[in-house]
Amino acid sequence: MVSEVRTPRLAVLLEPDWAAEALVADVRRGLGTTPRSLPPKWLYDERGSLLFDRITRLPEYYPTEAERSILAARADSIAAASGASTLVELGSGTSDKTRLLLDALSGGGRLERFVPVDVSEEILRAAADQIAARYHGVAVDAVVGDFTLHLSHLARYPNKLIAFLGGTLGNLYLEERAAFLGALADAMSPGDHLLLGTDLVKEADRLIAAYDDSAGVTEEFVKNALLVLNDQLDADFDPDAFGYVPFWDSRMRRMDLRLRAEVPQQVRIPGADLQLELAAGEEIRIEISTKFTTDQIAAELAAVDLEVVEQWTDVRDDFALTLARRG
Ligand code: AVJ
Repeated sequence: MVSEVRTPRLAVLLEPDWAAEALVADVRRGLGTTPRSLPPKWLYDERGSLLFDRITRLPEYYPTEAERSILAARADSIAAASGASTLVELGSGTSDKTRLLLDALSGGGRLERFVPVDVSEEILRAAADQIAARYHGVAVDAVVGDFTLHLSHLARYPNKLIAFLGGTLGNLYLEERAAFLGALADAMSPGDHLLLGTDLVKEADRLIAAYDDSAGVTEEFVKNALLVLNDQLDADFDPDAFGYVPFWDSRMRRMDLRLRAEVPQQVRIPGADLQLELAAGEEIRIEISTKFTTDQIAAELAAVDLEVVEQWTDVRDDFALTLARRG
């Protein structure tokens, strides 16, 4: 059989104005009422994506390297256990990790298709072209979509492995997480597999250091939320008027990353038709990052009929990869 470079296909499931409209709705809902919050997905504009990339290389931020080390050691076992012919990746900004999986799946000789899903068409096109050029004969069906909205699109792919890496599940609130996992399971057929990366509960000081790095990159990343509103909605936030407040919520077992108004201030957000009066000390929650135990992950997956096949951690037990199968 001659294997050739196949032209990637791109399915756009988002309306052209989706991002603009969804941002306005999220800003009105999140900032227009107290307690104030913003969904973390808006952190990742070009500047935010670059800052996150720097975070992944910080000495204090262990998750990226921990997850990579597990994948490097276990990709072959994962590929063999899943027997998948399609790899789906949700939120596919992680191409070096993806390659470990693609190498293992194609080495096993079964890989037919790669389906990266991301909200950014630009990121997807670049990733799709790279993968198509490197894995000859593999069909690349890129999907421009929001992984919390467009999971049902994935039901069409039989015999798949869905990778959701990086610990992004931890960004979702409890009720969002249950809804997401349920929708994910609904898009899977019996025998399909999920590969889930989750950060684990550990000593508070290491968690806090990972989200309050000495170089201040995480603070800059979190404050980028305000700059995104300045850029997109013509807002007049002054990031220097806010302090960065990261803390470990031991009851909810999550990092809670907030910005606190240092002085009373008025902020105009014309693009959302909103004006905020912030009292001194008032906080805006920008992101949560939930940490898990391996048993808790297994229980949450079992609740949506996904049974754990195997769980792996890195040498320090910092991070877990869970392979689960749809029953
Ligand atoms: C990309 C969501 C996994 O929660 O650790 C890192 C984002 N925020 N530092 C995380 C993040 C601040 C990251 N995730």
